[in-house]
Amino acid sequence: MAMAFIDLKAQQARIRGELDAAIGRVLDGGAYVMGPQVQQFEREIANFCGAKHALGCANGTDALELALMALGVGDGDAVFVPSFTFAATAEVVPGLGATPFFVDIDADTYNLDIGSLKRCIADARKRNLRPRVVIPVDLFGLPADMPAIQKVADDAGLKVVCDSAQGFGGTIEGKMTGSFGDITTTSFFPAKPLGCYGDGGAIFTDDDELAALLDSYRIHGKGSDKYDNIRIGMNSRLDTVQAAILLVKLSIYADEIKARDVVAMRYNELLANHVGVPTVPVGYSSVWAQYTIRLADREARARVQAALNDEGIPTAIYYPNPLHRQTAYNMFPSDPAGMPSTDDAAGRVLSLPMHPYLDEGTQDRIVKVLTAAL
Ligand SMILES: Cc1ncc(COP(=O)(O)O)c(C=O)c1O
Repeated sequence: MAMAFIDLKAQQARIRGELDAAIGRVLDGGAYVMGPQVQQFEREIANFCGAKHALGCANGTDALELALMALGVGDGDAVFVPSFTFAATAEVVPGLGATPFFVDIDADTYNLDIGSLKRCIADARKRNLRPRVVIPVDLFGLPADMPAIQKVADDAGLKVVCDSAQGFGGTIEGKMTGSFGDITTTSFFPAKPLGCYGDGGAIFTDDDELAALLDSYRIHGKGSDKYDNIRIGMNSRLDTVQAAILLVKLSIYADEIKARDVVAMRYNELLANHVGVPTVPVGYSSVWAQYTIRLADREARARVQAALNDEGIPTAIYYPNPLHRQTAYNMFPSDPAGMPSTDDAAGRVLSLPMHPYLDEGTQDRIVKVLTAAL
C-alpha cells in the first residue's frame, strides 16, 4: 500500500463508529445549517483553547477576511504578512482595498522576524500607508513569537490577527493559539492538524464587540432582524455536518497532538546529525502540521526528494515560491532590506510524511532512504 503523507484513513478507522453516529444525528435532526452541533462545537473549541468566543465559518480564508472586515481594514491600510506562507494569508487583503506588506521570516522558526516587521512598519509610513494589522502565521504548527509581535503591535498601534490555520493547539508557556492577539483564525481543511471532511474554519476572540461583528459579517451582515441587514457581509457558515465531525475529532485532538510530538521528536533524534531539523523555542509547543527539514541546497533537496519518491515515500515543498515573488503579489511592498531568510528557506525546505499514526517502522524506512540519498 502506498505510504500516506498525512494518513487520514488511520484516524478514520479509530473513530469511524462515532463519526457515523454523529453524522446520523445531523440527518435525523435535519438542521443542516447552523444546527445545534455548530453551537456545541463553538463552545467546546473555545473551551479547548481558552478563548471567550469561537465562531465557525466556511473556511480558513473566509476566517481571515471576516477578521479584517471586523477590524474595519480598508483603503490606504497596510497589513503585514509573511511571504513564506500559503497564499490565503495575503489574498484577503487587496480585496478590502488594503495593501499586503511582506515581512521576512526568522531563519530558525520560519515565523515572522521581529526586526523585519519593524522595518516594514517604518517603510509603510514612508509610503503613506497606514499600518493597521499584522497577521503572524503559526507556520508548520509552531506558534509565532506572539510576546514580541504583540509588543511591536502595541507600540505601532497595530491590531493582531493570528493565522493559526496550521498551528491550532500549539502553545506558548502553556497558553494556546486561539487566545493570542485580537483575533485568531484557523482552518479545518482535511489535511490540517484538526481537519473536517470538507471545508471549514473558525475565528476566536475575547472581545465581545468583535465577536458580535464577526457573527453579523458571517451571515450577510445581519442585524437583530435577519431581513434588516445592517452591514454588507458574506455567507460563511460552518456546515452542521462538519461541526458534528469536528466534535468527534476534537475529542481525540489532545491525544493526537501528543502522538504528533512523539513522531516529530523521533524524527529529530534520527535526523539531527544529517539535515537541518525544526527548531521549537523553549516554552513553545508545535502541533506539527508539517515536519519540515532543511537540506544543504536546492540540488541536495531535489536529490533527496527524488530518492524518496522512487521508494514510494511522499514529500512536499512548502513553499517553493514565496508570495512576494508570485505573479499576483510581486507588485506589493516587502522588507526594504530584502527577504533573505524567506528566499533561502524556499530553496531548501522539504516536508516529510507527518501524522499521529506514523509508526516507527515506517519512520525508520523514511529516514534510511533519506540518509542514503545524502
Ligand atoms: C497559513 C494558512 N492560512 C490560511 C489557510 C486557508 O485555509 P482554507 O484552505 O481553509 O481556506 C491555509 C490553508 O489552507 C493556511 O495554511
